[in-house]
Formats: sequence, structure tokens, C-alpha cells
Amino acid sequence: MSVTRDSFHSKLGFILAAAGSAIGLGNVWGFPTQAANNGGGAFVFVYLIVTVLLAIPALYAEVYLGNQAQKNPVAALQQACADVSSNLGKWAGLFGLLGAVLMLSFYSIVAGWMLSHALAPIMELVGFQSLASWLAESSTARNLAFTPVFILLSALIINRGVHQGIERWSSRLMPVLFLLLLGLIAYILQQPGASEGVAMYLTPNFEQVKDPQLIISAMGQAFFSLSIGVGGMMVYGSYLKKDANLGKLVLSIGALDTLIAFLAGLLIIPTLFVAQHMGQEVFRDGQLIGGPQLIFATLPALFESMGQIGIYVSLVFFSLMSMAALTSTISSTEVPVAYLVEDKGYSRTRATLLVSIIVLSASMTLVFNFDPLFSMVINWVNSFQLPIMGLFYFIVVGWMYKRGNQLADKQLLQQKPWLKFWANYLRFVCPLLLSVVFINVISNS
Ligand code: PHE
Repeated sequence: MSVTRDSFHSKLGFILAAAGSAIGLGNVWGFPTQAANNGGGAFVFVYLIVTVLLAIPALYAEVYLGNQAQKNPVAALQQACADVSSNLGKWAGLFGLLGAVLMLSFYSIVAGWMLSHALAPIMELVGFQSLASWLAESSTARNLAFTPVFILLSALIINRGVHQGIERWSSRLMPVLFLLLLGLIAYILQQPGASEGVAMYLTPNFEQVKDPQLIISAMGQAFFSLSIGVGGMMVYGSYLKKDANLGKLVLSIGALDTLIAFLAGLLIIPTLFVAQHMGQEVFRDGQLIGGPQLIFATLPALFESMGQIGIYVSLVFFSLMSMAALTSTISSTEVPVAYLVEDKGYSRTRATLLVSIIVLSASMTLVFNFDPLFSMVINWVNSFQLPIMGLFYFIVVGWMYKRGNQLADKQLLQQKPWLKFWANYLRFVCPLLLSVVFINVISNS
């Protein structure tokens, strides 16, 4: 059976979609809070190093595997591992698919919070005060309403396919996101107190650079931020023509993702100092307040204290968060959908429906067992699933994948010394470096 696969129609479309997957809550929320709590500039410095040395190579390996196979992640890994054991490849692919569903289960809940916070100022503007307060306050009822809305939004885009859905919507949302971010930064940096935040953000405290915990946090953050390990980047790579210059494309994605994370830090950390200037508590036990409290209490309180303009700032900020989240969830949703369509013969609509129902059930399980499960699933995905899959990609590309693997093609490597260096780097250095960090993660947890 031969089915014509949908694909990206331009390289720019691919870059925007993949950057859309990478740029998400991890950048706009995770990165600034981690930076704030891990020595400001020191974290930024270590983050840049692990991104270049490990995360971008892992992203390359993931995109490369998809691109070579031109198949969904389960089939792609199965093919790449065929010489060793195609069962291993298949199970690894399914494990990645599980990661995509787990990622969606918590991410859709948080994305729902962003959406409801984006609607709150609109309701306030049109005079529905009590609805606005309900939207801005966390409750199970709100989760029950907004998580499904978010899953539905992703489903509507995915159902339209790669070009009409993913490429088109990423190309629309990403430039808007960028402009909103720049606009917010320009506004916040003019507020009293902001310069102190800029200084803290940009001055590395080199004492902390050697802290193993900091390196581990930076690596987890870099892998999550570049969406490595659940197959989203692999499936996007598979929709790109085989002759594409992957090195350049992957570097652009890494650069865009890092730029947005950096800019988000330039927004959030000075914002915290502006809030402090206005009398809010932003430090606790010497640490900047992070996590949900930062986004859903400290920032809204600051917006409120700005008066009328604060309503608009809040609307822009949470719309930005919602868009960032949406372009990330669509890439994870595409992973199981592509598998069901290509390997199980489902129609795209049926596959999207089934995947959405599974994600919704998983999300609802988290909503109803929030305290024991929510952070547990996030930790599992971040500290275990993503790095172990990254390690697996290196081992596949470097050691298992023989037939059809350009990086193992002796003749080709003889002709291109640069490719040979790259292949050896992926084969020896990356798995070793990643294992060292990974063993540290396990022994520290
Ligand atoms: N990279 C996304 C972010 O930074 C999260 C993500 C992880 C998306 C894994 C897809 C797959 O928020």
C-alpha cells in the first residue's frame, strides 16, 4: 500500500513549525525561573554550553532519523534498528509515543490555564467581572473546562494535516509571538526597578557554574526546550525532503529556541523586580519565587497594580503563552496520529479523534489526582524519558543504524572530513557525555 505523505512545502515552513514545537512554556516560563533560581547569568552560561554540546546534536539525531526514514517515529526507529533488532526499534518508538501522550497530559492542563488567563482580561474589559475572576482563579472546574478546549484546538490544527494545519498555523503564530514578546520587553524595561533585574539576569555568578546540580538542571531544561525525546521533531523531520541540509536547519531551530528563551528571561526577571519595586514579595528564602506562583500570582498582581494598561499587558502576556503552548502541543499530537495513520491504516480524522480522547483521559486522570500525579509525571518526562531517548538516538545513529545511514557510510565519510568528524562526535562523545550527566541525575534523585 503506498500512501502519498503530506509534507512541509517550504524550508521556512519547517523551521517555523519545528521552532514552534521547541518554543513553548519551557522557554517562556521554565527557562527564566530556572535562570533566576540558579545564579542568573551562571545558568544562562551553562545552558548555552549544554545546548551546543549535547542538545543540538540530539536534535540533529532525532530529525535525521525521521528524515532518512520518511516515516513516523515508530517505523523510523524500527527501520534504523533493523540490523540489530527491529523489535527494539519498535518498542523504543512506542516508548517515545507514550512520552508524547504523557507530555500532552500535563502540558494541556497548564496550557489551559494560560488560555483562561488570556480570556480573563477580555471579560474584564467587557464588564463580566465575576466571570473574569473565575477565569483567573485556579479550580478543578476551570481545568475541566479549559484542558479540553486546548486539546480541541490542537486537534483542529492536526486534523487539517501537515501543510494546511501544522505549517500554516505555525507560520501564523510564531511571528506574532515574537512581536508580542518584543513589545512586552520594551514596555517592562521602562518600568522602575527593571534595571536591577537585567543586571541579575546577565551577571554570571561563576561560583555556581561548577555545581553539578546546575549542569543537570540546565541539561534537562535544554532537552525539554528543544522538544527532544518524544518523536515530535522526528516526525517533522520526516515531512521534510530527504535532500535538505539538516545541519543548517537544526542550527536555526536551536538558535531561535535559545533566542526566545533568552528574551523571555529578559522579560520575566526584570518583571519580577518591577513587582518588587511595587511592594510585592518576589524572593523567598533567598530564591526568586518560581513555579505556578510566579506566573499566576506574582505577575497578575503586578498587572493589576498597573491599572487600565495592566489589563492589556496581561492579555498580551497570556495570549503569548497560549500561542507558544499550542505550537508545542501540535508537534506531540502529530506523533501518535502519524503512527495510527501510517502503520494502523486509520483515517487522519479518526486517528486525531482517538489520540485526543486518550490525551483527554490522561489529562483528566491528572486533574482528579493532581497532588500525587501532576509533578510526578512532569519529573518522569523531564528527568528520565527525554534524556534516555536522547541517549538512545545517539546509540542508534552511531552504532545500530547501518544500511542507509549516511553517517555510517565509509565511502561518504572519506570524501567529507567534516561529516566524519560529526559522525564520530555523535558516536563517541555525545553518548559518553550524556551518560555521565544521566548517571548523576539518577544518583542525585
Ligand atoms: N519544547 C517545548 C517547550 O519548550 C515542550 C515540548 C517538549 C514540546 C517535548 C514537544 C515535545 O515548552
